[in-house]
Amino acid sequence: MNRLNWLKSITERLPDEAEGWYWLGIEYLERQESVQAVLAFTEGLKVSSEDQKPNLLEKLVIAAQPTQPPQATQPTQPTQPTQSAQPAQVQSEPVRETIQSNEKHRPFQVISGKKSDSNSDSKDSERDVINFDSVAGLTELKKTIRMKIISPFQNVGLFSKFKKKAGGGVLLYGPPGCGKTFMAKATAGECRAKFIPIHITDIFDPYIGVSERNLHDLFAKARSQKPSILFIDELDAIGFDRAKSSSNFRGVVDTFLSEMEGIDTSTDQVLIIGATNMPWDVDNALKRPGRFDRLVFVAPPDEDARESIYRLKLQDRLAEGVNYAALAKNSEFFSGADIEHVCERAVERVLEEILDTGVERPVQMADLEYALGSMTASTLEWLKTAKNYVRYANQSGVYNDIEDYLRVYGKRL
Ligand SMILES: Nc1ncnc2c1ncn2[C@@H]1O[C@H](COP(=O)(O)OP(=O)(O)OP(=O)(O)O)[C@@H](O)[C@H]1O
Ligand SMILES: [Mg+2]
Repeated sequence: MNRLNWLKSITERLPDEAEGWYWLGIEYLERQESVQAVLAFTEGLKVSSEDQKPNLLEKLVIAAQPTQPPQATQPTQPTQPTQSAQPAQVQSEPVRETIQSNEKHRPFQVISGKKSDSNSDSKDSERDVINFDSVAGLTELKKTIRMKIISPFQNVGLFSKFKKKAGGGVLLYGPPGCGKTFMAKATAGECRAKFIPIHITDIFDPYIGVSERNLHDLFAKARSQKPSILFIDELDAIGFDRAKSSSNFRGVVDTFLSEMEGIDTSTDQVLIIGATNMPWDVDNALKRPGRFDRLVFVAPPDEDARESIYRLKLQDRLAEGVNYAALAKNSEFFSGADIEHVCERAVERVLEEILDTGVERPVQMADLEYALGSMTASTLEWLKTAKNYVRYANQSGVYNDIEDYLRVYGKRL
């Protein structure tokens, strides 16, 4: 399968994922098929999140101007010598790409497709380029992940020597936009593993038994592409608490459990990471030993982390006189995604003004303060809900991490 077909198949399979449309558009741009590129970016915009929009728009504008060279579509560097050795097709070689634009908010960092399918199980076709350096703050979490996840994952042999089955998965939970998905991707980058994200739409099918088969196929795919990280987003939807849901989910949950138990991380080299905003809605059966037995709280960034995120999101952009410490101080409970939004809004404000007046100027502190003032922290609602769960449903101590967090920050909620 060539790269174009590969990307097309991804968008067919995952039409709600803006990233797939984005890369399909980029591929068309590279091939100078502007109309197709415009269509792909437009489809992407329909399903994109706020933070994905700027990149899609930027490329849409490029695609709509066919006289311009298709800038920003140049692949960066081939990931492996074997790939760069393939003749004459340098532009279309399978490469990992990071957008080379001014905004470095990196919503899109995936691997583009393969030139040929002869090495379809090659280890890097979907490996992500971000690693822990791309994640601001979350120092404790990184340490935990290094110790609990990466080392058993990498020390193949050691675990089998002690007859220790390094199975089970890690469940990242916390308020929206605080880096669960980002961290899972970074973990894959850190382990040099293939990142296989699963979305709910990959699994559910109205026909009886098909959802189960889809799940089985996904696990089989992960096993065949080791080392890999199978990332299951919105785990609450898959493993929705059976007490609160209809029996339709049962088959899916049961299949999921048996597939999961069949995985031995050290030998299979497959790590399963789940993420949820609602750990209390995740079926308890999924949280037993050997399953998602390590629950890791991804808290809102603290002040230092917020400062780093501001720096990260504004780096290489035209910004002057920014007091990062003050911004961080005034964004308590803001998630990483919220901060990204603040930066985007500030930049938009400046661009609007420049288009209006024709006078160019950098982003200044006042723009950021203005943007910040127009937003409220999106984690507040989650934290208030969590407070109740901690108060009334933490008998087993499973939410102790939230409790610790609330002890420090809860008074200001
Ligand atoms: N610690 C961080 N460092 C850098 N960027 C971050 C951090 N946390 C969040 N972000 C930014 O916010 C965006 C959203 O984060 P992410 O998608 O990982 O959140 P999430 O916890 O998975 O949210 P959801 O529960 O809505 O799925 C990321 O793409 C990233 O750009
Ligand atoms: Mg997420």
